[in-house]
Amino acid sequence: MKVGFVQFSPSFGKIDENIEKALSLIDESAAELIVLPELFNTGYLFISEKETHKLAEEVPSGKTTKALIGIARRKKINIVAGLAEQDRGNLYNSAVLVTPHGFGGVYRKVHLFNEEKIWFKTGGEGFKVFDIGICKIGIMICFDWFFPESARLLALMGADVICHPANLVLPYCQDAMVTRCLENRVHIVTANRTGIDRRGDKMWRYTGKSQITTADARILYRAGAKKDEAGSAEIDLQSARNKRINKLNDLFADRRTEHYGQLIKG
Ligand code: ACM
Repeated sequence: MKVGFVQFSPSFGKIDENIEKALSLIDESAAELIVLPELFNTGYLFISEKETHKLAEEVPSGKTTKALIGIARRKKINIVAGLAEQDRGNLYNSAVLVTPHGFGGVYRKVHLFNEEKIWFKTGGEGFKVFDIGICKIGIMICFDWFFPESARLLALMGADVICHPANLVLPYCQDAMVTRCLENRVHIVTANRTGIDRRGDKMWRYTGKSQITTADARILYRAGAKKDEAGSAEIDLQSARNKRINKLNDLFADRRTEHYGQLIKG
């Protein structure tokens, strides 16, 4: 199965321009499953509640999800894309799934980073796995990666591939994904953005280097730090479904949950 990502530098608040850019990169790709960055349509650096409300869209009726549904239908592909979601007055840093059949679902970021805690509510529905026919996918958004529980849960829930829309500003994630994949035998597609957001007296620089990492911990593709890119690679789903390490060890069956109590205490 061919998976891919789209990497570019969204312009803050220019939703139409960002959708157009993303669609043209998606059009270049031959992947069956394509991941877009976190908040790809709005940009990342919100500085007021008013603008966050103005830019966030309802899902699936908003124009971003509709545009993605259109291209997914036309190209018969699956897309996971980060956007700001508005639902009955609540705002979420979300990722939508669209498939050749239309809207597939939404995941709301669980671990909010820094000032996201001011603008967004945390995802009350938690982690989800979606069966898209060709495989099962899980979704985590950017900073979720820092919590090993995110990828572990998604793998335990049956994900073959974790789609990871990101706006990374710290330098660790891409290397860390090798370990996340290894410890869960799951493929991860990290779609990061590039460029700089400068708003008021605030500034973030994003690290690019979107990456496809395999269940056996190989980096199949790492994008450049700065350029627009639609990268893709072939992955072997069987390697994510077989959790055996050797004749006597199985990654999941050997878990000793009776000793892990502290992990789920608040
Ligand atoms: C992040 O979660 N966007 C760093």
